[in-house]
Amino acid sequence: MFLSKNFIILIIIFILVNDLLCSETLSPKNRGNKKKKEEKSSKKLPKPIKGPQKYSVLDQRLVSEDILAEDILTNHQAFFTETDDYNFNGLVLGYVTPWNNHGYDVAKIFGNKFTHISPVWLQIKRNGVQKYEVTGTHDVDQQWIVDVKNAGRQRKTKVVPRILFDGWTSNDFKAVLLKPEEVQAMNVVLMKICKKYNFDGYVFEVWSQIAGAVKTDPLLNLILSMSDAFSLENLDFILVIPPKRGDSHLFTEKHFDTLYDHVTAFSLMTYDYSNPRMPGPNAPINWIEDSIISLTSNITRRPKILMGLNFYGNDYTADGGGPIVGHEYIERLKKVPDLPLKFSKEFGEHFFEYKDNTKMNHLVFYPTLYSIFQRLDLAFNLNVGIAIWEIGQGLDYFYDLL
Ligand SMILES: *[C@@H]1O[C@H](CO)[C@@H](O)[C@H](O)[C@H]1NC(C)=O
Repeated sequence: MFLSKNFIILIIIFILVNDLLCSETLSPKNRGNKKKKEEKSSKKLPKPIKGPQKYSVLDQRLVSEDILAEDILTNHQAFFTETDDYNFNGLVLGYVTPWNNHGYDVAKIFGNKFTHISPVWLQIKRNGVQKYEVTGTHDVDQQWIVDVKNAGRQRKTKVVPRILFDGWTSNDFKAVLLKPEEVQAMNVVLMKICKKYNFDGYVFEVWSQIAGAVKTDPLLNLILSMSDAFSLENLDFILVIPPKRGDSHLFTEKHFDTLYDHVTAFSLMTYDYSNPRMPGPNAPINWIEDSIISLTSNITRRPKILMGLNFYGNDYTADGGGPIVGHEYIERLKKVPDLPLKFSKEFGEHFFEYKDNTKMNHLVFYPTLYSIFQRLDLAFNLNVGIAIWEIGQGLDYFYDLL
């Protein structure tokens, strides 16, 4: 089923590209030399609106299936002035990376729209028998943490850095999977760093890394002994988990039930459904729903599931292509300001096509107000929270929806 769905996506893309070619030959707009075309389109662009505004994107009816590239170009840098207001009551986690540092500002401005902010700073390393070290602390910005907590004071926004198990050999993993004293030594180091920097806990990314390679029970026991130690200290423990992909089901309902009482939340990575070898939507809405329901049918347990929301997109070409972030998307839209974006009802995502200077076709998927709104609606109906990867990659007007 996984393959056939991708096959259908490929066919759709083929049709779309053909469609583009046809419309180019038919449309008088596209005649004439390139330079004239660029001048024409740049003249047409209305002045972009920026910064705090009296009305939200919802008031302005910008959340629509029918949009032109120009609508995004004009409005994406504006946001509703009441930045403390929030619309989504569940858990809202926002990841922030140093390499898209606009996210640092987003967290300071919209802090109250998040219950958790997770800066991607830290790694845990194993340097020998019962010897652990947290690296990446040079990225920790104490003033920023204070600013984020201040912005989110009403909602008590927590700062929970992500921890990666970096450079671990199979022997290192064997140690923590088999020896309680190793886990204890690791916990001590992790908590010391937590206290030193005033963190409220961590987001742990380890399951996808080793779940396929080790037995499940020792892995569950490792997570349990870590999460219980954290909860004793009143620290949050959020576990990153993979979504189901076709027949591959690395994190199941059984795992969910075992860990449910012990962790603060599960950050479900419902993105990257497609890739350059199989171009298509980033996260088809039915697949997101399916991934959540397969973790638990018990709706009262769902608030601990954080549905992954991508704030990046992809620009695909015949030779590959890859991920794009907000400003790269905007650069691409500027080439086609008059273009209406297409919307796939099946996937719940907008997309568009353009030709670059070498006449190569590009197919671009990136979130829109409408696609995000649909996903927040789904999250509300399924009674789950959300986790955004990541807030430095999105557009400022997205936050009106949160
Ligand atoms: C659903 O989850 C809640 C909270 O963990 C639990 O109390 C309840 O027994 C569960 N219901 C079923 C039918 O398993």
